[in-house]
Amino acid sequence: MAEREVVETSEAQIAVHWQEEGYFHSSPKFIAQANMTDASIYERFSLKNFPNCYKEYADLLTWYKYWDNILDTSDAPCYKWFKGGLINASYNCIDRHLPLYKNKTAIHFVPELETDKTEHITYQELYVRVNEFAALLKDCGLKAGDRVTLHLPMVGELPVTMLACARLGIIHSQVFGGFSGKAAADRIVDSQSDILITMDGYFRGGQLLDHKEKADIAVAEAAKEGRKVKKVLVWQRYPGKYSAKTPMVEGRDFFVNDLLKKFYGARVEPVQMPAEAPLFLMYTSGTTGKPKGCQHSTGGYLAYVTGTSKYVQDIHPTDVYWCMADIGWITGHSYIVYGPLALAASSVIFEGIPTYPDAGRAWRIAQDLDVNIFHTAPTTIRGLRKVGPDEPKKYNYHFKHMTTVGEPIEPEVWKWYYHEVGKGEAAIVDTWWQTENGGFLCSTLPAIKPMKPGSAGPGMPGIHPIIYDNDGNVIPQGAGKAGNICIQNPWPGMFQTIWGDRDRFVKTYFERYCKNPKSKDWRDWPYLAGDAAVQAEDGYYRILGRIDDVINVSGHRLGTKELESAALTVVEVAEAAVVPVKDDIKGVVPDLYVALKPGFKASVELEKKIVNALVKEIGPIAKPRKVWIVPDMPKTRSGKIMRRVLGAISNKKDVGDVMTLANPEIVEEITKMVQK
Ligand code: WTA
Repeated sequence: MAEREVVETSEAQIAVHWQEEGYFHSSPKFIAQANMTDASIYERFSLKNFPNCYKEYADLLTWYKYWDNILDTSDAPCYKWFKGGLINASYNCIDRHLPLYKNKTAIHFVPELETDKTEHITYQELYVRVNEFAALLKDCGLKAGDRVTLHLPMVGELPVTMLACARLGIIHSQVFGGFSGKAAADRIVDSQSDILITMDGYFRGGQLLDHKEKADIAVAEAAKEGRKVKKVLVWQRYPGKYSAKTPMVEGRDFFVNDLLKKFYGARVEPVQMPAEAPLFLMYTSGTTGKPKGCQHSTGGYLAYVTGTSKYVQDIHPTDVYWCMADIGWITGHSYIVYGPLALAASSVIFEGIPTYPDAGRAWRIAQDLDVNIFHTAPTTIRGLRKVGPDEPKKYNYHFKHMTTVGEPIEPEVWKWYYHEVGKGEAAIVDTWWQTENGGFLCSTLPAIKPMKPGSAGPGMPGIHPIIYDNDGNVIPQGAGKAGNICIQNPWPGMFQTIWGDRDRFVKTYFERYCKNPKSKDWRDWPYLAGDAAVQAEDGYYRILGRIDDVINVSGHRLGTKELESAALTVVEVAEAAVVPVKDDIKGVVPDLYVALKPGFKASVELEKKIVNALVKEIGPIAKPRKVWIVPDMPKTRSGKIMRRVLGAISNKKDVGDVMTLANPEIVEEITKMVQK
């Protein structure tokens, strides 16, 4: 069954349709220094010039060997970009910068505690650390094509680890540090990793968390699913000191800092990788309980993130660039690590949360490092606006450019971002894209197109979106109607497949609007993004939210099925249903409805137990707004849970006609309980 068929209530259905806004223009000062000011780029990247136009992005990189075929579609829709080309991502992010920039900071690592000093890792220092760690990985027997799972927090060691893997062609799979040990285990099993790389602890809200305990859970849970982790490599948050309470396991767990001593001074030649070799896996939630491993390529991905970092984010080597996201998400891979470093930028990595110890923290960091490009998500912007609307004024920093990513941003919030955070000086880009895409799909080019609050903007150069209705008719520009946004053409940053599951890849993203399933022509395979969108008269797209069973909490994707199956691990729970609810800060949050097995009673303890199960299976970000233990679920006569009705109740909307349900009386009972 195609994944879409399970949808009963979706984000897109609860989206608020705010009105069209006016334009804002970037300042002449910004435009004068911008990387891309030539509007003919849209023509150069038109469908007429596709796919050869992408040579322009690929030429931002250093290749060992140019490709023979820019786009191989023989296995459509699994495409190979720059086929025959040879390249190394680590070389492109480090080695090639050394002649000009070896003394320049590559990474500013900002620890959460303000009493701890910021660490400035130069390109030369990054080169040394990546080489030494690559030598260590090689000594562990790892080689090109092997998968390694990383479960690291936001520390400088994370890009060091990623780039060391990339140097050897090892496929890294970084699991968001806030995810549970069980979530890490699922990804270890799916990617067939033998080695887990983690850290003993890290700071979050002023607490030094024991992170190593999650590794023990991950290894034990993976073993239950038949995967033996042979080695756990443990970085130390404070080198030379163990910051966790969980004991090390003899023969399995090793401190990286100890092992590294053997490799001081080691140098490892970057492996010349085929452009189409996978660089990393990034798991994301789908509409079933099982996350999907999005497989990203080396050459295509790197070309795409480098091109978009240069032209959308306007990164120059002289800039101090801060993307306040987590490297555990695609945003961090593309726009903290690979894109900025390929352009020899100085990229900031911040360990903590922006409101600790107070609402001015982020702006103090910006001031102290003289950050001039800032990038974050609407949830963070809404949160900072709420706790410290006047904080930015107090600090002396000046952004030339700001990004928003991950969720729709309300025009009101956009304007606060523009006037207060950006002090009216910074150009803003609202970038719409997904884990699957590698890089931006819709956005303005900041020196060419004006900004419009609440709209992502037109398709990127070389990205040709199209909106279809449910019957496959095209909804034209300016029609004022929403539909399902698709991309007509492949692009180099797009994922190659779902790791180990080509069928699911084809079904989820291409089956719905495929014109001919046997076709080797990319024109027959529009990519279904899974979002609803409207295109205004001016060609700008506004994204309304997911059309499937995925909800975007604080910009993090969670599958409702994942949450439901976690709730069902609690013995008392008979049925579970998750629905999205509008939230002022987080955009959308989940409400969890459960019905109990006979003989069990609702209680506050049981609610807590259920919440704990979600935290254990997934992580704290999976915590629902509320667990509603209901006497029964609203059901159709055939026994299907009506999530649509629950969604309406949670969002205080009209439940519609419920008389055809098997148990209409329950609707009023639940409404009273939830809306009291
Ligand atoms: C949503 C994050 C509105 C969308 C890079 C998409 C957005 C999902 C925007 C992907 C935006 C992302 N405006 N909605 N600018 N950017 N989204 O995979 O629903 O974590 O499908 O990638 O976030 O989330 P993901």
